[in-house]
Amino acid sequence: MTTTILFAAPQDSWDAYRAPLTEALDATGIDYRLSRDIPAEEVEYIVYAPSSGLTDFTGFPKLKAVLSLWAGVEKIVGNDRLTVPLTRMVDDEGLTQGMVEYVTGHALRHHLGMDAHIVNPDHRWEGKAPPLARERPVTVLGLGMLGRACARQLAQIGFPVTGWSRTPREIEGIRCLSGTEGLAEALSGAQIVVLLLPSTPQTENTLGAEQFALLAPGAAIINPGRGPLIDDEALLAALDSGQVGQATLDVFRVEPLPQDHPFWAHPRVTVTPHIAAETRADSASRVIAENVRRGVTGAPLLHLVDRGAGY
Ligand SMILES: NC(=O)c1ccc[n+]([C@@H]2O[C@H](COP(=O)([O-])OP(=O)(O)OC[C@H]3O[C@@H](n4cnc5c(N)ncnc54)[C@H](OP(=O)(O)O)[C@@H]3O)[C@@H](O)[C@H]2O)c1
Repeated sequence: MTTTILFAAPQDSWDAYRAPLTEALDATGIDYRLSRDIPAEEVEYIVYAPSSGLTDFTGFPKLKAVLSLWAGVEKIVGNDRLTVPLTRMVDDEGLTQGMVEYVTGHALRHHLGMDAHIVNPDHRWEGKAPPLARERPVTVLGLGMLGRACARQLAQIGFPVTGWSRTPREIEGIRCLSGTEGLAEALSGAQIVVLLLPSTPQTENTLGAEQFALLAPGAAIINPGRGPLIDDEALLAALDSGQVGQATLDVFRVEPLPQDHPFWAHPRVTVTPHIAAETRADSASRVIAENVRRGVTGAPLLHLVDRGAGY
């Protein structure tokens, strides 16, 4: 029997995925048909990106699962017209490596105070050597695939790293905390905070005025997680008071970030356009193909989204 797989993502994704996904599916040995154009009544699996515009899954009577190409699933997790299992992109080595490089690069930039010397129009001969990494506590909020990888890399450089998650975790070399009290403890005295939480009703405004006050004065925030994790007004107030020294933000409540948003003009905010890490077609294709193989052979799907938890 031929398994039918609809690729529901924009043309540029199809251009990037067509060859590697075909290769990865071929390697599974299953008989399949992959296309952007399959009659709805024949579709069994949907390889999915929210940018496809597809939101109503009720017209696919044979649909077995929706396989997201994206790691963040907040745009689809609450969709009540999607009743089959939903998986998300995890384990894509390119995505994880990209995030580790983004987070490590910006953490080192703040740690070493690079900005002061990169932009020095008055040719000032001043400054002092930065502390060692081991003297600068870093906190990573979210210890999933990406948070764990970043926490490990930062710890390897020498930073004392604290991680925070919903359920208690144990990661060698990382002080792991969880729960509401754990959050306050994780933030107390932190000099660099990295946000790698999903966007859910529970994680909205994880960092607000109360949390910023716990940080070491002048702390840096790095947010490649999701925009709603931070209370924007509270962040601007903390930046203006100096409690937060710098914020590097890759994700926003509204994207693209509106031209008149104060983050663009703020001298101590760096805006990057949601480029921290992206799914790489070759490694992501192997993740998708493995889940199709599992579906076809009746094995449990990997990376199932917990619709109740929202991620
Ligand atoms: N900017 C970019 O380019 C880009 C690219 C990819 C991903 N992302 C973002 O990165 C996020 C993290 O990705 P991931 O693959 O590491 O996700 P993940 O594997 O789902 O991990 C999420 C982590 O957040 C924790 N968490 C969830 N809800 C929580 C809560 N209410 N309180 C405390 N901790 C909570 C989870 O706790 P448990 O460990 O207890 O489950 C887990 O440790 C994604 O959701 C996405 O938004 C951004």
